[in-house]
Amino acid sequence: MTGSVEAARIEAVLSAAARAGVFEEEPPFAIFYDLDGFRARLRAARDAFPASTLHALAVKANPVGPMLQAARDMGFAAECASIVEVLHAHDSGFSPERIVFDSPAKTTREIRFALDAGVYLNVDNFQELGRCASHLEQHPSRSIVGLRINPSVGAGTIAALSTAIPTSKFGVTLDEHRDRILDAFRSLPWLRALHVHVGSQGCPIELAAAGVRRVALLADEIEAATGRRIEILDIGGGLPVSFDESTTAPTFEEYARALRAAIPEIFDGRFRLVTEFGRAMSANVGWVASRVEYTKIAGGRRIAVIHAGADLFTRTAYLPEVWRHHVTVHDPEGALKSGAAEPWDIAGPLCFSGDLVARERPLPPIEPGDLIVVHDAGAYTLSMWSRYNSRRASAVHGYEGEPPVLQLLKKAESEQDVLRFWA
Ligand code: LLP
Repeated sequence: MTGSVEAARIEAVLSAAARAGVFEEEPPFAIFYDLDGFRARLRAARDAFPASTLHALAVKANPVGPMLQAARDMGFAAECASIVEVLHAHDSGFSPERIVFDSPAKTTREIRFALDAGVYLNVDNFQELGRCASHLEQHPSRSIVGLRINPSVGAGTIAALSTAIPTSKFGVTLDEHRDRILDAFRSLPWLRALHVHVGSQGCPIELAAAGVRRVALLADEIEAATGRRIEILDIGGGLPVSFDESTTAPTFEEYARALRAAIPEIFDGRFRLVTEFGRAMSANVGWVASRVEYTKIAGGRRIAVIHAGADLFTRTAYLPEVWRHHVTVHDPEGALKSGAAEPWDIAGPLCFSGDLVARERPLPPIEPGDLIVVHDAGAYTLSMWSRYNSRRASAVHGYEGEPPVLQLLKKAESEQDVLRFWA
C-alpha cells in the first residue's frame, strides 16, 4: 500500500478537470491535491504523538499557500528553510513562535530579523551561534533558539538525502565538538533547544530514532554539566513514503513506537517535542496530469511527449531508479485506458535527452490528447521547479468531498511572470 489516492477518485477528478477545460489551457498540465487525504495525513501525525508536540510542516516539501493555511488551521507550525519561506509562513498566518527557521546559510540580517520577530530558530554552527549572541546581547528576544546536532549515526540508502554522516554539511558533529557544545549551553542561557534531522527518504525509522536517542542523551549530559534542563527537542522530519506497490512505508505510529523503543522516556513529558515532517504529509496525496502532445517511434522506441518533465521531476530525471513514479494513461475525458501493453518512454518537454519521467514502462496505446498521470507527486516536485527552458509552472488544483469538487489552489504562471524572472 502506498497510501496513494485511489484510481476511481483520480478518474472522477480528471473527468471534472477535463470538462472544466484544464488541459486546453497552457501549460497543458496541472498538479492535483486530495485535500481530504492531506488533512488525514496531518491528523495521523498528530494522533501518533503526545498532544503537547508542536508539528511544524516542512514548507520546502510543498509550499502551496492554501495547504499551508489548512495546516495552520489544524494547529500546525511551519518549518522553513529560507527567509522567504519564513515570510511565506508569516503571510499564510503562522504566528512567529510557530515558524521554525532552519537553514545552514542564514545571513546576519536574516538572523536579526528572525530573532526580533520571535521566530523559533535552529542554529546550524558555532559561527552562527556567535552572530546570535552578538545580537541578543543588545536585543533580548522571545525566540526559542536551538542547536542542530549531527549525531553521526550513519546514512540511509540515498546519499544526497542523508544528513547524519560525520561529514554532513548540516549541524554540529556531536563526537567532534562535545566540549564546545557543553560550553555553549553553559554560557548562553537563551540556548534552550536541541535539533536533529537524520535524513529524508531512504532513512529507516530505526536510524532516525537512533539519531534522536543520541541527542536525547546529550540533553542529559548538558543537564549534568550545566544544571540546565533542555526541554525542547526538535526531531526533524524524514518519514519515508512509498512510490509503488512493491514497498511499504512506515506509519507515524510505527515511527512513534520506534522512538519509544529507542528512548523510553521520550513521550513522558520530559521534552516538548517538535517535528518537521514534509514528504510524508504531501507526497502520496498529490499527482500530476499532463496532456500528451505528440507520440512517435524512434529506433523502435515508443515515445510520448508530455508537458511536465525534469523541471517538475528533477530527481526522477537524474536518478530514475531511485525516484520511480507509478504512471497511468487516461483518455481525454479522464477514463483509464486499457489495451495491449507495450514499452513506452514518457518524455518531458525540455531540451535534453535525459528529460524522461518514465522509461520502458509497459503501458496501453497512447495517442495525442490522452492524459498521463504521474502518481505520488505531491512533495518536492513544484517546490524544486526548474527554470530551465523558461517553461511555465502549472496551476495547482485541490479537491475534496464525494463526488470530488475542484478548487484552484494556485494559478499557473503567466508568460509575463517568467519574463519578469529574466528581466
Ligand atoms: N527538517 C529539515 C531540517 C530538513 O532538512 C528536511 C528535509 C525536513 C525537515 C523534511 O524532511 P521530510 O519529512 O520531507 O523527509 N527531494 C528533496 C528532499 C530534500 C530533503 C531536505 N530536507 C531533494 O531531493 O533534494
